[in-house]
Amino acid sequence: MKRAIIIGATSGIGREVARLLCQQGWRIGIAGRREEALKQIQATAPQQIETEAIDINQTEAPDRLRRLIEKVGGMDLYFHSSGIGSQNRDLTPDIELNTARTNVEGFIRMVTAAFDYFKQHGGGHIAAISSIAGTKGIGVAPAYSATKRFQNTYVDALAQLARMQQLPIRFTDIRPGFVATDLLGNRHYPMLMETEPVARRIVKALQKGQRRVVIDGRYRLLVFFWELIPEWLWERMKIK
Ligand SMILES: NC(=O)c1ccc[n+]([C@@H]2O[C@H](COP(=O)([O-])OP(=O)(O)OC[C@H]3O[C@@H](n4cnc5c(N)ncnc54)[C@H](OP(=O)(O)O)[C@@H]3O)[C@@H](O)[C@H]2O)c1
Repeated sequence: MKRAIIIGATSGIGREVARLLCQQGWRIGIAGRREEALKQIQATAPQQIETEAIDINQTEAPDRLRRLIEKVGGMDLYFHSSGIGSQNRDLTPDIELNTARTNVEGFIRMVTAAFDYFKQHGGGHIAAISSIAGTKGIGVAPAYSATKRFQNTYVDALAQLARMQQLPIRFTDIRPGFVATDLLGNRHYPMLMETEPVARRIVKALQKGQRRVVIDGRYRLLVFFWELIPEWLWERMKIK
């Protein structure tokens, strides 16, 4: 039986990926700050699911990760779904800094702990949900788009480091477009996707060992064209 640790499994995409892996017979360890939500999910398959309350912004989070891995009996897949994001046209410093804390500092804290675990235990698979938002600097969400670009680059760097050190660690960088989760709240977004098909696409990418995946096809096309837009034009565009 394969074993996965999913950080950020209390809601949204992480929760749905946890449900699907469970359905496929994986043994899973789930984490997030909301203990009540963790217990509710565990009750759906108590023999397969272990839980640990983890706030990735706390320095003891890697210790808690190791405790969760022990409860599960090992880790083959580390799946990072924890993240926050919001629009911040007024550049409220708290919003910008909190986003950086969770999506950069917390991300580094957890992904390096997972890398270290796999280094000591013969390899494994690290997957993280970044976003298509990392493709360009987005004026209405500066910290969110910049932190997502950071995550893309960080995964690229670790993938190279693993090869340099001849470690059998695989990486998957998952970049979805808009998904209907708590993160978006009740705002209206174009080309909104539901969590279930997105999670199915993610699980497929994990099984195939894809290095990078943009979800879905419409967003693949959008990103392709975004990347072609020159800076002088991008700065003049009103992306809401
Ligand atoms: N929704 C979209 O349109 C979209 C698009 C592209 C990428 N993404 C990315 O997908 C990932 C999952 O987001 P989602 O859309 O599924 O939103 P969500 O439902 O709000 O889920 C976010 C998850 O992150 C966890 N989290 C937040 N802060 C945390 C912290 N300090 N410590 C531990 N866990 C924390 C939350 O758990 P607790 O609150 O229990 O801690 C929750 O489980 C994020 O990285 C997001 O940037 C989302």
